[in-house]
Amino acid sequence: MTEPGRDDGHTSFSHRKYSQNDSENLGARFRSARPNANRLRAHETGRLGLIDKARLRLDNRSFSFLMKERNFLSALLNTQLGTVPLLGRGKVRDLYAVDGALLLVATDRISAFDHVLGSGIPGKGKILTQISLFWFELLADIVPNHLITADVHEYPAELKPFADQLEGRSMLVKKAGMFPVECVARGYLAGSGWKEYCSFGTVCGISLPEGLQDGSRLPETLFTPATKSRDGMHDINISYEETEAIVGPEDAAELRRLTLAIYKRAAGHAESRGIILADTKFEFGRTGQGIILADEVLTPDSSRFWEGAAWKPGGPQPSFDKQYVRDYLESIHWNKQAPAPSLPPEVVERTQQKYVEAYRRLTGQSIEV
Ligand SMILES: Nc1ncnc2c1ncn2[C@@H]1O[C@H](COP(=O)(O)OP(=O)(O)OP(=O)(O)O)[C@@H](O)[C@H]1O
Ligand SMILES: [Mg+2]
Repeated sequence: MTEPGRDDGHTSFSHRKYSQNDSENLGARFRSARPNANRLRAHETGRLGLIDKARLRLDNRSFSFLMKERNFLSALLNTQLGTVPLLGRGKVRDLYAVDGALLLVATDRISAFDHVLGSGIPGKGKILTQISLFWFELLADIVPNHLITADVHEYPAELKPFADQLEGRSMLVKKAGMFPVECVARGYLAGSGWKEYCSFGTVCGISLPEGLQDGSRLPETLFTPATKSRDGMHDINISYEETEAIVGPEDAAELRRLTLAIYKRAAGHAESRGIILADTKFEFGRTGQGIILADEVLTPDSSRFWEGAAWKPGGPQPSFDKQYVRDYLESIHWNKQAPAPSLPPEVVERTQQKYVEAYRRLTGQSIEV
């Protein structure tokens, strides 16, 4: 199981002192993403809603070919914006410097267990961007955010030649001094939280009552901050006191307040759509205007979304996040070391469907990918 927005299995609780190096160098937050070319396999599974019409007309063999072509052609793994300065590539996002602002471009890369996988999920970057935009608006009265515009027509002229790559999957944002603390809210027990609870009766060092199960609702929402390991690859859970030591008591209190307030609003909205927001991760930054919500928000990459109607504590929950991909990777017994495997076409398709469904359920709108 995993941590929200953090590729699981590696998150650990530590009281190590925070190092300046962890925060100062934006480059250190990035590593060179080296997604392999999609390796596509010739079989299909029957979960192919988006091209069902084509399926009716094609025999299995030609359909498999069509699906291979489709994945190959439409997953954007790396952006190329000519001479626009590339600041770095995160696991999912490419970050460019534009006119004193930042251009965040969500690619179709997918990571799991801290590795970028060999296959992309076509349209994923668009879905993540559109979900974040939806939440930024819904949360605007609670916290200001980094968005300048996501309308490519309003982008600076130097980006015009790249409108096709950027449409729908990019945001021009205010450059913020990012807090070197990932702000996690947990409303339910899952992933490494569940494992820690089994061993110690705690989650991130916070004592919990006896008798909770995998998937149980927590008595109250927990703020469980984390910071990046020195190599920028793994997240390490830290205590509230360590958070205070890193960002100062005043900002720590504000980050906790904002995290819990946003979680409450978002969980309420999700519930109204039949979805449980089990946990999620936020990143905040500071600009001249104060603390703002940055990065991506409340996406299936950064959150656990569970099917409300099917919720039953006592095991893994049906979800609209990338748990499905992690489950697949566990099933093939990948050792979680590089090189990361590619995904078979049916896993790519099913994952895409889950992201599309998350968008549809959360926003009430449909999305073309
Ligand atoms: N407004 C902003 N100003 C400065 N940096 C930002 C802003 N918004 C997001 N970022 C940074 O941009 C990067 C986005 O890259 P990406 O989402 O691929 O993340 P990552 O850090 O590699 O992986 P993960 O999300 O799994 O932790 C992050 O380092 C994030 O902190
Ligand atoms: Mg990120």
